Amino acid sequence: MKTTKIWNLGIGDIKILSMSRHRPPMKKPIWIIVLVLFWLPPVPAREYTDKEIASQVVIRDILSPPYALPKNPKVAFMFLTPGSLPFEKLWDKFFQGHEGKFSVYVHASKTRPVHVSRYFVNRDIRSEQVVWGKISMIDAERRLLANALQDSDNQQFVLLSDSCVPLYSFDYIYDYLMYTNISFVDCFRDPGPHGNGRYSEHMLPEVEVKNFRKGAQWFSMKRQHAIIVMADNLYYSKFRDYCKPGLEGKNCIADEHYMPTFFTIVDPGGIANWSVTHVDWSERKWHPKSYRAHDVTYELLKNITSIDVSVHVTSDAKKEVQSWPCLWNGIQKPCYLFARKFKPETLDNLLLLFSNYSTP
Ligand SMILES: *[C@@H]1O[C@H](CO)[C@@H](O)[C@H](O)[C@H]1NC(C)=O
Ligand SMILES: *[C@@H]1O[C@H](CO)[C@@H](O)[C@H](O)[C@H]1NC(C)=O
Ligand SMILES: *[C@@H]1O[C@H](CO)[C@@H](O)[C@H](O)[C@H]1NC(C)=O
Ligand SMILES: *[C@@H]1O[C@H](CO)[C@@H](O)[C@H](O)[C@H]1NC(C)=O
Repeated sequence: MKTTKIWNLGIGDIKILSMSRHRPPMKKPIWIIVLVLFWLPPVPAREYTDKEIASQVVIRDILSPPYALPKNPKVAFMFLTPGSLPFEKLWDKFFQGHEGKFSVYVHASKTRPVHVSRYFVNRDIRSEQVVWGKISMIDAERRLLANALQDSDNQQFVLLSDSCVPLYSFDYIYDYLMYTNISFVDCFRDPGPHGNGRYSEHMLPEVEVKNFRKGAQWFSMKRQHAIIVMADNLYYSKFRDYCKPGLEGKNCIADEHYMPTFFTIVDPGGIANWSVTHVDWSERKWHPKSYRAHDVTYELLKNITSIDVSVHVTSDAKKEVQSWPCLWNGIQKPCYLFARKFKPETLDNLLLLFSNYSTP
């Protein structure tokens, strides 16, 4: 029984063992070898740094099961916005009647928001300026997570922007996020200039190019993942120092690479690899499509909610299409719960359509 386990240890170990097998029968020495082999740690591809080992033990302990939901689990809706939120009235309609199952946090980085919904009043957290592409964006996300983590009932943490709208009723979104044990963090490998082309070798040894990933910043993550993001200083500081626009002629955007790369290193099986927030890049411009009032129809919203395959395209000459079904606990489901970018002028149309499009 015990010898079968030894064969998994590595090539070097197998050699020692087969040598001992060709010797004349000597019960005791073999047992000593067997015991020694059991204590040999698996040989890593490279030697881990002290900081990496420290990070691994903390993260492994936080992620190790079992993990039970509290009595009244809540979803934390975290809004990252420059100022006032144009869709508060829509969110008000969305939240109404679901008190006790959600909490709201607002990080306004430029101007103090004027709130029109009772669910948003007094929900502003202390904020700082956010510079596009720089680590200050991640800092704002971490500030939101830290505030939301203070409430131990919060179990899923959704990051939303001022141009995001909900695509379903509250109950549908709540169940979708709560009754799964993965986080919806967008993540794919892009060998092209807008992916690995932004990687800097200064991030070595802990961040290797083989683990460098890209993805949209709009995540929804489970509590354990929110905690490991707060606990991380090692990978965070690599991105703070070596992933920013204009460094060494590269345009590294911290919020497009830090989370997907971090989770690829520490818990790749724990993320869905797609974001639950839809965005339309089909115009292939520097910014995604922004919907205007006349774009917002029942058909548009039904089109978005009918998507059940996640698609990514690499930025190299091959333009490789990577697509996978959106599997929720193994079942193919619609990928998106929220969508962006909607111009403020779309509010009235959205309010009119909401009860119709939001029923699955
Ligand atoms: C999620 O839970 C299932 C069992 O309910 C388990 O098999 C699976 O490994 C878990 N996945 C993660 C990412 O924790
Ligand atoms: C996400 O992708 C990683 C590879 O980067 C894979 O290991 C993981 O299983 C994927 N997650 C799911 C839920 O399929
Ligand atoms: C909805 O999807 C159909 C089929 O892909 C497409 O022909 C149509 O233009 C879409 N409508 C809107 C409003 O996006
Ligand atoms: C919403 O659905 C109802 C019932 O199906 C219908 O009468 C109404 O016209 C719809 N409203 C809009 C704005 O599409």
